[in-house]
Amino acid sequence: MECRKLNLMVLTFLIMVYLPKVNVQTSENAKNLLYQIFNASAYNKAVRPTYEQNTSTDVVIDFYLTSIINLDSQKEKLTTSGYLTISWNDYYLQWTPATYGELTSTFIPQDNVWKPDISLQNGVSELKGLGSTSLFVYVLSNGSVYWDPVGIFESNCGIDITYFPFDIQTCTLKFVAWSYTKDEVNVMEGNKGIILDKYEENSEWSIVDTSVDTLQESIDAAVVFSIKLKRKPLFFLLNVILPVILLSLLNVCIFVLPAESGEKASFSVTVFLSLAVFLTIVTATLPQNSEKVSLLGIYLVLMANFSTLIVILTLFILRLNFRDVDEDPIPSWLIKLQRIVEVLRCRKCNKVHHAMISQAEVPNFDSGYTISTEEATSISKKSKSPTPDEKPKITWNHICNALDFVFFWIFFIATFITTVTIFSICSKNDV
Ligand SMILES: *[C@@H]1O[C@H](CO)[C@@H](O)[C@H](O)[C@H]1NC(C)=O
Ligand SMILES: *[C@@H]1O[C@H](CO)[C@@H](O)[C@H](O)[C@H]1NC(C)=O
Ligand SMILES: *[C@@H]1O[C@H](CO)[C@@H](O)[C@H](O)[C@H]1NC(C)=O
Repeated sequence: MECRKLNLMVLTFLIMVYLPKVNVQTSENAKNLLYQIFNASAYNKAVRPTYEQNTSTDVVIDFYLTSIINLDSQKEKLTTSGYLTISWNDYYLQWTPATYGELTSTFIPQDNVWKPDISLQNGVSELKGLGSTSLFVYVLSNGSVYWDPVGIFESNCGIDITYFPFDIQTCTLKFVAWSYTKDEVNVMEGNKGIILDKYEENSEWSIVDTSVDTLQESIDAAVVFSIKLKRKPLFFLLNVILPVILLSLLNVCIFVLPAESGEKASFSVTVFLSLAVFLTIVTATLPQNSEKVSLLGIYLVLMANFSTLIVILTLFILRLNFRDVDEDPIPSWLIKLQRIVEVLRCRKCNKVHHAMISQAEVPNFDSGYTISTEEATSISKKSKSPTPDEKPKITWNHICNALDFVFFWIFFIATFITTVTIFSICSKNDV
């Protein structure tokens, strides 16, 4: 019993003796520290915090990118959100932790201490200081200061639209200490570059690559963060490119319509107008840049040119269709052309109708005559041994059909080659 009581008393005594010595950092410690710094030592935030003012303050910058808000191709402006982590050493913010209850770190409102005036050199909005008055800097007892100003950065970004919409853009954010030269404040990159831990994916752009570089110019130093962005092309593929390709197909099909239908002219003008509308839509999304032309723009202009040509040719063919052979004899080269077309066509005709009719009657079907089945069989019976006299006389209508055939294939091949060439060049950029 006695022994136990004694033990308890010793224990209580020991606790009472050692309790104050346990390291508890009280608010008094923090207050004392701030009083010491700001009142007793009269910290002046205008003084660059090195003891010898001829030595430079090294400022290390890292960038956490949280999202790409927008890359405006027209205004050539990249809007990003994120925060910088800026750290430096402040000679006047050092203390011995033992004096302040082992207090090793503290937070100080950002406006109460010296900060490098880091700003975005290639920004496109009005310059204001980084961070805000409500932010704090984190200070360690050895004088290291950490400042994480968060913000939305609007920077200028030259857009190269050549391969639109398969384009890859490289945008930079260039941070400098605006008022100081590099002999006073020397900015440098951290070893982490652009940190994407907290990045949220953008629906229009994906990040291909990022890099960071410190530029040492004659009097200034700058930290340049580069972001390589690739456009996700699906939207433009579905909404612009696919309709344009289909329209150019329609364009060629004007030559399939027979002249007698009376629709040729209006149809061709309609297709031309639709192409013109798409040209307007695409130009509205591109920067007004006269140095570089987009391949898609060239493609649309080519298609519009083809369309114009097709309208003109259609009008001429329509006019020829209503000529009379007796008044305007057909020139011999057109007759030759018609014969060649006949041969080209009849290879196909024979495959389909070879059991029914012989070669000589084929022009009759092409020229739009309606022949009843009895007539057709009688003709094919008669034509077992065709004589030159029985060959039908070539009219302007035959010539028009032949011209339609020729132009259909010319424009079809031209459109096909242009489309394949332009889009294979564009998507080669897509590596
Ligand atoms: C410390 O200085 C600040 C600003 O100079 C002043 O507002 C504050 O009252 C001072 N504190 C003490 C305890 O003197
Ligand atoms: C700064 O000046 C002091 C005194 O003149 C000199 O000893 C020191 O080397 C200088 N430091 C630098 C970095 O120039
Ligand atoms: C202060 O301490 C931190 C953490 O231990 C360290 O990263 C930093 O480099 C130190 N700063 C200086 C100036 O020694």
